[in-house]
Amino acid sequence: MRRAGGGSAVAARLVVVALLAWGQAAGAQGPASSSPPSVSPFAARTAEQLLREKLSCLGCHRLQGSGGVLAPALDDVRTRRDAGYIAAMVLDPQRVKPGALMPRPRLLASERALVIRYLGGEERLAPQVPAGVPVGSPAGSAAAPDGAALYRQWCAGCHGAQGGGDGPNAKALPVAPARHNDGAKMSQRSDDALYDTIDGGGAIMNRSPRMPAFGGTLTPPEIQALVRHIRALCRCAPPGWSRDGGR
Ligand code: HEC
Ligand code: HEC
Repeated sequence: MRRAGGGSAVAARLVVVALLAWGQAAGAQGPASSSPPSVSPFAARTAEQLLREKLSCLGCHRLQGSGGVLAPALDDVRTRRDAGYIAAMVLDPQRVKPGALMPRPRLLASERALVIRYLGGEERLAPQVPAGVPVGSPAGSAAAPDGAALYRQWCAGCHGAQGGGDGPNAKALPVAPARHNDGAKMSQRSDDALYDTIDGGGAIMNRSPRMPAFGGTLTPPEIQALVRHIRALCRCAPPGWSRDGGR
């Protein structure tokens, strides 16, 4: 209403509140959470462990009462969505729901199959999609990607609008999101390290797996624009050793 920034923070909070209310309403309807499992109890435990410890899903989604608040809870997704839709979302969210703020998960085929079945999906019912092709983002079609806009869209929910590590979802994460406005910290990171973390996710950098991988969704120029935006937020340069020929 007043400042544009304040308005978008309020809007973000409202979305979170709406999702929480939705989750509670769905839970209150009763038998949803005890709908028949589509995998054995052993497979269910394996899937839950994978989701809690290795994958990024719970960075945004809740499961069994813990996890992020940026997306609908996964416990009862089978009561809302059919098996083909669930599988298609895990395979390629942008293809099935263009504009969805879910990056394409990077999973081993075996993990993907297990998670899909655990959630009540069926891979053979999903439309076939070619593997490994970035499909671009809603904001990504422009020739020169807008790092600030991409950051607002994909990152601010956890990292905060100004990169303060204080997005509406930050408190729902077991490891605090990096503070991209922290010049002392970020000046220790090379641009390559920032790029690789955005591209491949926290897990490949030995960091929290709840930092998702965006390389299956954002293009290399978009990821480069995000690295430049982080440099703007921290007002800092990468360490000297990492700069080719000492720019
Ligand atoms: C960066 C946040 C984020 C991450 C990480 C993420 N998702 Fe999502 N996911 C979303 C959002 C947002 C939606 C809702 C999309 C919409 O309907 O607009 C969604 C929707 C879904 C849906 C459909 C839910 C429904 O009720 O419509 C499924 C299933 C799903 N995600 C599974 C997963 C799995 C499995 C993973 C991990 C491999 C994962 N997601 C990782 C943000 C995320
Ligand atoms: C679901 C929450 C979530 C979202 C969405 C998210 N991040 Fe993160 N990110 C994290 C967490 C948590 C960490 C901290 C990981 C750690 O330190 O173990 C992190 C760490 C990072 C790091 C590593 C910083 C360092 O100290 O080296 C970078 C870079 C980063 N995120 C960039 C991004 C960008 C760019 C986006 C948007 C495209 C984004 N993140 C979206 C949760 C998130």
